Amino acid sequence: MDKKPIGIFDSGVGGLTVFKEIRKRFPYEDIIYFGDTARVPYGPKSRNTVIEYSIQNARFLIQQGAKIIVIACNTSSATALTQLQKLLPVPVLGVIEPGALSAVKMSVSKRIGVIGTEGTIRSQAYSSAISKLDKSCIVFSKPCPLFVPLAEEGWQDHEATRLTIKEYLTSLLQNDIDTLVLGCTHYPILKTAIQQFAGDKVTLVDSAKTVTDKLDDILPNRESKKIGEDHFYVSDNEEKFNNIASKILGMNIDKLIKVRLGEGWFL
Ligand code: DGL
Repeated sequence: MDKKPIGIFDSGVGGLTVFKEIRKRFPYEDIIYFGDTARVPYGPKSRNTVIEYSIQNARFLIQQGAKIIVIACNTSSATALTQLQKLLPVPVLGVIEPGALSAVKMSVSKRIGVIGTEGTIRSQAYSSAISKLDKSCIVFSKPCPLFVPLAEEGWQDHEATRLTIKEYLTSLLQNDIDTLVLGCTHYPILKTAIQQFAGDKVTLVDSAKTVTDKLDDILPNRESKKIGEDHFYVSDNEEKFNNIASKILGMNIDKLIKVRLGEGWFL
């Protein structure tokens, strides 16, 4: 069981922000990452479609031997976590609850902002998770769909990004929030620009980091003579994936395998 890999999936490349944190924290574990680059983005898709894709992705990882599934994608976590936990024979972790917990711990004023894709915000998964933990918290949410292509373009330090941040966040910040949850895989890539605009009175919660803390509680951090192996799978566009991956990870992925899901094979 111990030797089996950790499985991580995302709608595409953004989940590598989660992979990066988990790899840092668990150097001896093998990790399999699946990015559903053929069907990205999940953010604007309907609930049923996101659930269907998420089940296929997770089943693929289990077929590859995953002992635990981490849903790096906030949209999938917000929509499909309960179904996956019911269906799958291994533990399944999503990013919402750990992010919510961290926000509740960090917020002093109990006025918390949440940004994410349309699907994540529509699901109200973060606001329910936060209210469940602390009823006195008031949550202000805002979908920020354009942050995804800006992050993928590598425009961390670009005028277009600063303008988009201003457009999305001005009204949100008027609610006097002291904590802002980056509820999407891609947003940590724009963290510096978001922090600059929000100012230092606002603490950012990075869901890539908080889900790794949660994994820490579940998985004993074993030591081994051998450094863990990484296996990367995508459903399309290997070259584009690798381009963005090299920006997120600071290295190229040598072995990237393309697989096709969704033709009934994994249902
Ligand atoms: N991975 C998605 C998320 O964290 C963002 C990209 C998409 O819309 O698929 O919500």
